[in-house]
Amino acid sequence: MQEMAFDGQAETVKAAAAVALDTIAADVIVVFMTEGGVADGMAAEVDRATGGLLTRLADNGDLSGKRYECVPLLAPSGLQVGQVLVVGLGKREDVDAGICFRATASAARLVAARPRAKVVFLADRAWSDAQTEQAVAGAIAGMVGQDLYRSEKKRTPFGETVWLGLASEQVTRGGILGSGVNLARRLVNLPPDDLYPESFAEQAATVASQTGMQAEIWDEDRLAREGCRAMLAVGRGSVRAPRLVLLTYRGRGSDSPPDLALVGKGVTFDSGGLSLKPSEGMLTMKCDMAGGATMLAAAATIAALKLPINLVAAIGLVENMTGPAAYKLGDVITARSGTTIEIHNTDAEGRVVLADVLDVVRGLGPQRIVDAATLTGACVVALGLDVAGLFTNDQPLCSAVADAARAMGEPVWQLPMFPEYDEQIKSEVADIKNVGEGRWGGAITAAKFLERFVGGIPWTHIDIAGPAFAEKPKPWIDGGGTGTLVRTLVTLAQRLSQ
Ligand code: BES
Ligand code: MN
Ligand code: ZN
Repeated sequence: MQEMAFDGQAETVKAAAAVALDTIAADVIVVFMTEGGVADGMAAEVDRATGGLLTRLADNGDLSGKRYECVPLLAPSGLQVGQVLVVGLGKREDVDAGICFRATASAARLVAARPRAKVVFLADRAWSDAQTEQAVAGAIAGMVGQDLYRSEKKRTPFGETVWLGLASEQVTRGGILGSGVNLARRLVNLPPDDLYPESFAEQAATVASQTGMQAEIWDEDRLAREGCRAMLAVGRGSVRAPRLVLLTYRGRGSDSPPDLALVGKGVTFDSGGLSLKPSEGMLTMKCDMAGGATMLAAAATIAALKLPINLVAAIGLVENMTGPAAYKLGDVITARSGTTIEIHNTDAEGRVVLADVLDVVRGLGPQRIVDAATLTGACVVALGLDVAGLFTNDQPLCSAVADAARAMGEPVWQLPMFPEYDEQIKSEVADIKNVGEGRWGGAITAAKFLERFVGGIPWTHIDIAGPAFAEKPKPWIDGGGTGTLVRTLVTLAQRLSQ
């Protein structure tokens, strides 16, 4: 498997000073317009250079500026380019960072359907710094697809991407963000026989060295010495041994405890174990390490951006299989914390893995913990495919996560953590069991299980079972891994470090 440069396409993305449009030689120029906005900004300049082409099309109703509308104008006279792609941003007053990301991603996705040597984006002068960075990031996400193993590629990253009218600092930061999103997507898209606990850990170590993080990898011996019996139990049915990845980044320089701990579920394949999944439910279970991929990518992005924050990220990597030594229904595991867990369903493995990972992180004494996990189908039943569930023991932290997500246009919704749900995970045999009573409220009982292992530290759990993986493409991104929440978590870290 190819090693993953964290930078990826970002190094081919450049800033350039604004020049007369008719001097630009490129395959494609991408320009943005708001509703009814041909008279406005760069669209007005393209209109002028093309002898009023945009005005004519707008008058005809062929150009509306509606959100994510992409209209290609082929070989426009007055310009030296193969095409101008006009991208709608919707109403000017509604434009935000999330819309900027999706608009440029939609444009890049279309343009990348064929190989392009050079694509020039005309930045909108009305964008804020945050909006500009998200726009640059979106273009990087949009030009990469899930065709890792196709001989005939559906997307080809541009040879060169130029942002006219931006400072190179902005383009660099946006490029780092885009690389982070694509790293998470790519890890999710890799097939499970290529990405397994050991190979994920190797990728994490490479990314750590590229971005200035320390990486510690616990193999099965170390996990045993550390008492991570819950992680080891889940991994016992597989020939691929578990790993725990611990990443440390000290952007505040001091040795003080981490300001933020990021914890990810890294089940590189979830067959369900002896509580075997049916085939349809199993096909996409290479995505069950998406929480781990999100946390690795968010940590790498935060470190590459050199944010002034102390951070740890911990990823619990296992493969949940049915081999002869597999953990069984009725088994009782003493987790690292000493809590005993009775196994009622080996397919509720994510919470069992996270029990130990959260306990390791708790021991590091962070100010706050955020975990991301493709934890429950129940969360998808509750909120649908596009919305992540939030669960917390600390409302200010949860609200900060929700605010960051809103700013990035990544939908999240909080579910309650009433104490009544705790009753459901009590066991007659052990301290707790790994499922609730029946399937109702399953996303919450899973969160309640996790809460037992955070030792009262402010904590928010994000269930990304819905948004982590898209079976169908969206206008702004191909199907497969979505890189969900990477931008939200980077924004959270940015805000915590201010
Ligand atoms: N990885 C799955 C959850 C999942 C489902 C992720 C769909 C992405 C899409 C998790 O390990 C699981 O199997 N959960 C069970 C829990 C149940 C047995 C209590 C579920 O949701 O069915
Ligand atoms: Mn499962
Ligand atoms: Zn799972």
